[in-house]
Amino acid sequence: MPGVAIRADFLHCLRDPGLDGSDASAIEHVRDGVLLVRDGRVERLAPAAAVLPAIGPDVALHDLRGALVVPGFVDTHVHFPQVDVIASYGSQLLDWLERYTFPEERRFAEAAHARAAAGFFLDRLLENGTTTASVFCTVHPGSVDAFFEASEARGLLMVAGKCLMDRHAPDGLRDTADGGVADSRALIERWHGRARNRYSITVRFAVTSTPEQLALAGRLAAEHPTVHVQSHVAENRDEVAWVARLFPERRSYLDVYDHHGLLRERAVYAHCIWLDDADRARMTASGAAVSFCPTSNLFIGSGLYDLRQGLAAGNRVGLGSDVGGGTGYSMLRTLGEGYKVQQLRGTSLHPAYALYLATLGGARSLYLDDRIGSLVPGRDADLAVLDPAATPLLARRTALRDDPLDTFFALATLGDDRAVRETWARGVPVHRRGPAA
Ligand code: GUN
Ligand code: ZN
Repeated sequence: MPGVAIRADFLHCLRDPGLDGSDASAIEHVRDGVLLVRDGRVERLAPAAAVLPAIGPDVALHDLRGALVVPGFVDTHVHFPQVDVIASYGSQLLDWLERYTFPEERRFAEAAHARAAAGFFLDRLLENGTTTASVFCTVHPGSVDAFFEASEARGLLMVAGKCLMDRHAPDGLRDTADGGVADSRALIERWHGRARNRYSITVRFAVTSTPEQLALAGRLAAEHPTVHVQSHVAENRDEVAWVARLFPERRSYLDVYDHHGLLRERAVYAHCIWLDDADRARMTASGAAVSFCPTSNLFIGSGLYDLRQGLAAGNRVGLGSDVGGGTGYSMLRTLGEGYKVQQLRGTSLHPAYALYLATLGGARSLYLDDRIGSLVPGRDADLAVLDPAATPLLARRTALRDDPLDTFFALATLGDDRAVRETWARGVPVHRRGPAA
C-alpha cells in the first residue's frame, strides 16, 4: 500500500498531563517532524532528519512546514439537527427547548431536510478540525440514517443515535416506549460497527422519557456492551427540580439513569453542573464520562461546571460544543471559553490539559482512545493541521514565544476555523481551507 508522509511540527498527548500540566512527559512535541501513515494508520512520528532518508518512492510527501499538527478534535456532545437553532435569543433551557429546539427538530421527519443538514453539519465540524463527535440526531430514525450516510461518505469515526423521547414533547416529536427502543435496536443492527460508525443509545433527558422507556433503554444497553450511551444531566436548576418531581423515589437526577442501567462505561452525560459528591462518586465507579460544554453553559445561563471538583472525584471528562445550545463548532473557541469558566471557578486550565480535553481526553471519555486521540503508532491518522499565523494577531502573538503549548493556548484563546488549515481522516485530507474571503 502506498504511504503518506506529512512534514510539520506535531503536538499530542501520550496520557493525561494533569489539570495543572504537571506531568510534562505526557506531552510529545516533535519539531520539524514527519508523520508516516500507512493504511490510514500512524506508522511512525519522528524528526524529519531521521525519517526522510528512509522514505521510499511509494510515499507521497506533504510539506506542511509552518503548521502545528494535533490529533483531530473530539467533540463529546453536539446535536446535528440544531444547526438552525444556534444563536437563538433570550431563554434558559426549558423555554429554549419549547421555543426554538423542538419546532426545529420536527422538520427532520423529512429525509431530504435531514440529509442536507447532516452534510452541512459535518462540513462545519471538518472546517473546525473535529474528526469525531458524539452526536444527538432527532427522534426520527431517518435522521440517523441521514447522519451515518453522510459521515461514512466522509470517512469519519462518529458516534450517534436516535433521541428516545416518549413524553413532554410536542406532537411529531414523540416515540413510544417500545417503538423508540425497537427503532434503536434496528439502528444498532444497521449502523454499529459498519465502516467507522458507532451507535449511541440516546435518551434525550429524564424529563422526556417515561420510566418504562428508561427501563427498556437500559435493557437494550445491557444487550449491547460495545454500544455507547448518551444523555443530559443536571444542566439547569429548573430542569433538576422537574426531574425531582417526576421521579420522587430517586435520590438524585443522576440516580434516575443509574437505576435504569444507563450509567456505565461508554456513557457520556452532558453538563453535570449540579451533581453532588455521591453522584460524582457514582460517575467514577460506573465509568461514565462528563461532557463539559462551556459555551452552552454560558449561553443558556446554566452554570459554571467545576472541572477541578469532577477530576478530584476521578471523573472522566471530555469537551462538548453542544451546538445549538453552544455557540460554535470550534473546539479551539470552546476551550477558550472553558478556560474562562474555570477562571471563574478559581482554576487556570493548563494548556496541556486543554489539549488533552479536546483530543485524548475526549477519546477516553468515549472509550475510543485505542483508536483516536493521539499520534502514537497504530492510531487512526485523524489530524487537525493548525496555522499559528492564521490571522495577523495570531501571527504576532505566537511569534513571541517558541513554546508549542503556549502556541496552542494562543490558538485556543484567539483562534477558530480560520486557524484550521487542513483536516485529515485516516490519512486522507477531508477539508482544506480556501483563501481568506
Ligand atoms: N436537555 C434536553 N435536550 C437538550 C438539548 O437539546 N440541548 C441542551 N443543551 N440540553 C438539553
Ligand atoms: Zn445537548
